[in-house]
Amino acid sequence: MRAVVHDRYGPPDVLRLQEVERPVPTDDEVLVKIHATTVNRTDCGMRSASPFIVRFFTGLRRPTRRILGMELAGEVEAVGAAVTEFAVGDQVFGVKGSGAHAEFACVRESGPVAHKPTGMTFEEAAAVCDGASLALAGLRKADLLKGRSILIYGASGSVGTAAVQLAKYFGADVTAVCGTKNLELVRSLGADEVIDYTQEDFTKNGKMYDVIFDAVGKHSFRRCRRSLKPGATYIETDLGYLWHVPLLVLLTRRIGDKKVKIGITRYTKADVLFLKELIETGRYRAVIDRSYPLEQVVEATRYVETGQKTGNVVLTL
Ligand SMILES: NC(=O)c1ccc[n+]([C@@H]2O[C@H](COP(=O)([O-])OP(=O)(O)OC[C@H]3O[C@@H](n4cnc5c(N)ncnc54)[C@H](OP(=O)(O)O)[C@@H]3O)[C@@H](O)[C@H]2O)c1
Repeated sequence: MRAVVHDRYGPPDVLRLQEVERPVPTDDEVLVKIHATTVNRTDCGMRSASPFIVRFFTGLRRPTRRILGMELAGEVEAVGAAVTEFAVGDQVFGVKGSGAHAEFACVRESGPVAHKPTGMTFEEAAAVCDGASLALAGLRKADLLKGRSILIYGASGSVGTAAVQLAKYFGADVTAVCGTKNLELVRSLGADEVIDYTQEDFTKNGKMYDVIFDAVGKHSFRRCRRSLKPGATYIETDLGYLWHVPLLVLLTRRIGDKKVKIGITRYTKADVLFLKELIETGRYRAVIDRSYPLEQVVEATRYVETGQKTGNVVLTL
């Protein structure tokens, strides 16, 4: 089968198409013929080994996972002997972890994979699970109850577009912060208020929130303090400069009444099924910026690394 491989860490050019062995499903796996996948920030981090700690998981000197690609949508090509939930020909979507930048990949039946939402294209379905799982991990730290206010910074990224829709679903009063070109999009996702960060600094407008969610890792607890109500939570998606965020999480547990929390993502079948239901009832949609054929994975990756994509970047096969 065709797959995008990389044998060393480095810039996007280390990625190349190659013929590799097609995987064979074990008893509890399904083999998926992939129609669409995405390039996301984790793929980029694993390819460039940035931050360095990534190497402890992906190989110290060279990548042990040659094929990247976390998200997938496609059709079941074959099933293992013990698989009962899926049959050949079923359309599925979910998270693979790595290995989805290829024509075929195996996923465990019990893993974060489900039948594709009805009415959704493969491209859209591929772009659902990663951003939404990260957003859910963050929002679950916030005890987000009906009527509480949340400000989502970086509302136009993969995590941000998911966070706006999910926070709205949980009943929060959502203020979304993004750049000028994405204001209308973010409003259409359900934000009650939008702030253009190129025009207004929300930390200086006197408004306060129960939760501030930095969905793009570009803000800081220190700068947001005055915009947090007493007892409020600041949620991060990133470890921050010199990895200071975990330290802040520990410190604010004991000191002060404003807490810093970091969303730790676990990809589960329960979440994939939850997202499928939201999609099928019209309460969630995937935001896609650009689609590239698999052959243009280097261009797609370069675009993702500009840090300016809106929502998700898809690869089609
Ligand atoms: N550790 C990991 O493996 C991992 C994996 C995935 C994600 N993450 C974390 O998850 C977070 C979000 O990732 P993502 O994939 O959703 O990001 P993304 O999609 O790449 O975010 C792109 C968006 O960020 C906005 N943006 C860029 N600079 C900004 C700034 N200074 N202020 C506000 N918005 C800005 C841009 O919107 P505008 O055009 O509107 O400015 C763009 O739409 C990051 O903190 C990332 O570190 C971590």
